[in-house]
Amino acid sequence: MPSMRLLGGIALLAVSATGCGMAAAAPEQDVTVPAEPTRIDFVDPATVTGLAPRTLTEGEAAGRHVHISYPELPGATRLNALLREDAQRQLRDFRDTTTPVGHLPRPELNVDWQLAAAGDVVGVRLRTGEYRGADWGNATRTFWYDRRTGQASGSAGLLSGHEALREVSRLVRNGLKHRGPEVDRQQVSAERGQLDSMAFNGEGDLVVEFDDCQIGPCSLGRLAVAVPAGKVTPLLSETGLRAQESVRESAQRVARAGWAPGRAVPAAASTRAGTVDCTTTKCVALTFDDGPGPYTAELLDVLREADARATFFPVGSGVAAQPELLRRMRDEGHLVGNHTWDHRDLSRLPTSKISDQLGRAGDAVAAAIGQRPTLVRAPYGEVSLDVRNVARERELSLVGWDVDSRDRRGGDAGEIARWTAGQAHPGAIMLMHDLDRTTVDAVPGILKELQGKGYAFVTVPELYGTAGMQAGHVYTSGIGPSRKQPLT
Ligand code: NI
Repeated sequence: MPSMRLLGGIALLAVSATGCGMAAAAPEQDVTVPAEPTRIDFVDPATVTGLAPRTLTEGEAAGRHVHISYPELPGATRLNALLREDAQRQLRDFRDTTTPVGHLPRPELNVDWQLAAAGDVVGVRLRTGEYRGADWGNATRTFWYDRRTGQASGSAGLLSGHEALREVSRLVRNGLKHRGPEVDRQQVSAERGQLDSMAFNGEGDLVVEFDDCQIGPCSLGRLAVAVPAGKVTPLLSETGLRAQESVRESAQRVARAGWAPGRAVPAAASTRAGTVDCTTTKCVALTFDDGPGPYTAELLDVLREADARATFFPVGSGVAAQPELLRRMRDEGHLVGNHTWDHRDLSRLPTSKISDQLGRAGDAVAAAIGQRPTLVRAPYGEVSLDVRNVARERELSLVGWDVDSRDRRGGDAGEIARWTAGQAHPGAIMLMHDLDRTTVDAVPGILKELQGKGYAFVTVPELYGTAGMQAGHVYTSGIGPSRKQPLT
C-alpha cells in the first residue's frame, strides 16, 4: 500500500484559531497564521439572507446551566428539523444524565454553531461543550443541506455511500499514523459514527474532526485530519462535490478581497443619552439578555411605541448572524452590551478564554453597529475575580440586576408583568430575556404600569448620570457599584 501523504494533516485545533470568517473579527490573526490544513474557514452568517439563531435554555433556577444555539434557514425545512431535533435530543440527554445542584459549580451544557459552507450547499457545524464536574469536554457535529435537492443529512451525506465512508476511515487511520501511540487509530471505523463532523478547507481537502477523548486521551484535546482533495474527491456524493466547490470558491473570494485593516470604533452610548435626567426623574433600566430571538423585532416595536429605551445583552454568535437587528437597536436609542460569544459560564474558564469570549463578542457588536460595548453581563450572572480583572482590562463594566422578571420560571405574560412592575423602584436594573414569547407579551403591561407611576425607561449608564460607571466594577442597581462579590 503506498503511503498516504496527508498534508501533515493532523493537528490540535485550537478553537480560537479556527476563526469565524468575519472580516472584522480578528484580521491580524487571519493574515499571520499560515494555512493550516485542518482549519475550516467559517462563513460570516450575516451574508446568508434570512438566517436567524434559535436558542434553547433551561430555567434559571433549574440547577443546571444550559444554552443551546443553532441557526434556522428560511425554507430549509429538513435542515431546520434536523438541527432542532439535535438540540432537543442534547437537552434531553443532558437532563437525563445530570443532577441539578443548588451550589456551584453547576453542570453546564453549551451548544454553539458556525457555518462551514453557505453556497449551493450549506454546512452547519455544532460544537457542544459539557461540564459535568470535572473538565470541559467538547464534541462537534456537522450537518449538510443541499439547496438544490432540499435534502439534509449528517456528514456522511458528503460521501457517495458506505464504501466511500469506509475508504475515508482508512485514509483517516493512515493520517493518524504519525500521531504516535497515544491515538488509538484502529478505533476509527465507518461503523462507529465517529465521522460525524466533516467539512472542507479552502483547498478542497476533507477535514475530519474528532471529539475530545474519542480516540485518545482527553489531554490531547481536539484531533482533526485533512484528507487531501485528490484522494477524497472521487469518494464524494453530488452534494459533497458541490459543497467542496462552494467552499473553494468562497476561499478564493476571500483571498481576492483581502482583509480590511482593523479600525477603531467609538465606545457605545445611547444615541439619546442625556435626554432624561435620572436625578430628577424616576428611572429604571430594562435589560434583555440572550437574543436576538424570534420576537426581538416585535419587542423593538413595542418599546418604540412607548418611547421606552432598554439595554440589550445579545450573544455574540447571534449578533454576527443578525447585525441589522443590532443596528435598529442603536438607531432607536437602545444600548447594546456584551454577553460573551457563546454564553459559557465565564467563572469556570481560564483568563485567556474569558478574554477571548469578551473580545469576540465585542468585535461582533463593533462590526455590526460601529460601537464597542462598554457593558458586559456575565452569563448566569457568574462573576469571579478573574472575570472582573479581564473586564477591567477590556474596559467593560459588569452589569447585574436587582429585579428579576422571573420570565424563565414559566409564568404567563400577565404574571410576569405584575411581578416585575411590582418590584420596580427608582434606579432598578430589571432582568428579562428577549427569546420568549411570554416575555415580549409581558412588556407592554410593564411599560404601561410604570409609566403611569411616572417612571422613565433608560439605558443602564444613564442611571448613573455624570458619576459614570467604572470598568471591572459590578453594578446591580442604580445606586452605585455593588459591594457584593461575586455576583450570583
Ligand atoms: Ni444569558
